[in-house]
Amino acid sequence: MTDERFDHAPVLLDRVLELLGVVADGTFVDLTVGGGGHAGALLDVRPGLRLLGLDRDPSAVDAARRNLSRFGERVHIEHARSDDLVGVLAARGIDNVTAVLADLGVSSPQVDRAERGFSYRDDRSGPVDMRMDPTTGPTAADIVNEADETEIRRMLRDLADERHATRIAAAIVAHRPITSTADLADVVRAAVPAPARRRGGDPAKRTFQALRIAVNDELDVLARTLDQALDVVTLGGRVAVISYHSGEDRIVKRRFRTAVDGGCVCPPGLPCVCGAVATARPLGRRAIVASPAERARNPRAASARLRAVEKIEPTPVGGL
Ligand SMILES: C[S@@+](CC[C@H](N)C(=O)[O-])C[C@H]1O[C@@H](n2cnc3c(N)ncnc32)[C@H](O)[C@@H]1O
Repeated sequence: MTDERFDHAPVLLDRVLELLGVVADGTFVDLTVGGGGHAGALLDVRPGLRLLGLDRDPSAVDAARRNLSRFGERVHIEHARSDDLVGVLAARGIDNVTAVLADLGVSSPQVDRAERGFSYRDDRSGPVDMRMDPTTGPTAADIVNEADETEIRRMLRDLADERHATRIAAAIVAHRPITSTADLADVVRAAVPAPARRRGGDPAKRTFQALRIAVNDELDVLARTLDQALDVVTLGGRVAVISYHSGEDRIVKRRFRTAVDGGCVCPPGLPCVCGAVATARPLGRRAIVASPAERARNPRAASARLRAVEKIEPTPVGGL
């Protein structure tokens, strides 16, 4: 694994550099360092930044160490999950975090390697695994072959807005044991009504998305990660997140909004009297998306949404 290339084009790179390139010197934390594409580009333009890079996938840790070795002592990469942030900073005695990036989801090499079990493509069939960290935790096969039908149905609805969740969950249970991703994808495709099968992309896509999110506990991890990132970043420091599906983006949008409006519960348009205190200012009014050119170049960019905030001195929303 160590010698394999890590072919992954960083998404919205120019916009990330614009947003994070202006922070004060200090530590830049890349919570999902992957192959180090974003991280290396920011270190190149900002010699006053050091990098703490985390990734829950040991093969990404190897790749990042390799790809960023040219920065020598400026870089430290650790095998950790993003919601270990506070613990990792404490262990290393770091208290000058001026920029945080989370580029969520899976990398191209993770999806491309059949043995990781992320791909619904027949030519990349592998075990039904889908763990970002293959050293720990249950696999997607454990869910597919052991969870009860109601739980699978709920997962498909809640984590991927799957309209055919009932039929797919029933088909999965009827075809147990399912041992390869190709078999799982076939079961899902056959369960979807023919007209829906002809519309849009591969009907297996949403089921794979839901299973991946569940196996990696992605939404709860993200919520804890955002709390920690907003907490540890210094005043004037920036937190940027790129998400790839609506469930993720909703969590980012809400958490950032709470930081910006202090959780104000006053009616819109009226002065704030609820005592809310803002701790961040938004960088941009809405999510940044990729240009048509980037989408054409890199299909992963099509669903990307980038949001960012800057930490400010706690400020009463209603004024003093
Ligand atoms: C989209 S890739 C990041 C690519 C990176 N920005 C680059 O330019 O190469 C996402 C990476 O984040 C890792 N990852 C996803 N969620 C994580 C989490 N909660 N904590 C740590 N790593 C995570 C995945 O293992 C994967 O390597």
